Amino acid sequence: MHKYAIAPSLLSADFARLGEEANAVLAAGADMLHFDVMDNHYVPNLTIGPLVCEALRNYGIKAYIDVHLMTRPVDKLIVDFAKAGASRISFHPEATDHVDRSLELIRHHGCHAGLALNPATTLHHLEYLWDKLDMILIMSVNPGFGGQKFIPATFDKLAKARQLINASGKDIRLEVDGGIKVDNIAEVAAAGADTFVAGSAIFTQPDYAKVIAEMRANLKSVSNNS
Ligand code: DX5
Ligand code: ZN
Repeated sequence: MHKYAIAPSLLSADFARLGEEANAVLAAGADMLHFDVMDNHYVPNLTIGPLVCEALRNYGIKAYIDVHLMTRPVDKLIVDFAKAGASRISFHPEATDHVDRSLELIRHHGCHAGLALNPATTLHHLEYLWDKLDMILIMSVNPGFGGQKFIPATFDKLAKARQLINASGKDIRLEVDGGIKVDNIAEVAAAGADTFVAGSAIFTQPDYAKVIAEMRANLKSVSNNS
């Protein structure tokens, strides 16, 4: 995997041709697929579940699948997604009664574990979890929809999260999700993110490879990330 990873969000893909879209974006240079799961309870939108993840695997998708649960509760879906071929599963701390237990459940089922923090959710949630995290997902929009505008307070939060990760000495990815575009990806990387979810920036364009190449070119100019 590249030092920086680009994770196209299938939320903005054509759901009627999801397998083709997944292959196309991977052929265009994506590092992984970001898979947004919304339940119409935790967030006011409804998307795709484990059956669709399994269908992508059965279709022949071998890439890393980064499942982002925006659901409440999470534990049953963690097990279902692990069985359906998820590579990494993240969830929001507000969406489960026992965050530590849900993180353990993810690893127990052989997946990487991530915790997703909404714009108003503080980094304090991470304090006693450093041994259980493979990834921290900083939401740069409120979860529920693609195509929203990046919230500037995220820069400061990413920088603080990067400091905490470095101080922990752990191998933890720092993912950012929402409003990531060719034009702001370098600034977001400079703040400390290493994994970039991008939905509308990629799937609304006719040439996915061009967008991903432009993102990578802009990331090349960033040097102060670990
Ligand atoms: C928002 C989702 C995001 C979304 C990002 O709730 O978690 O992954 O698809 O979309 P863009 O890149 O369009 O902001
Ligand atoms: Zn997401």
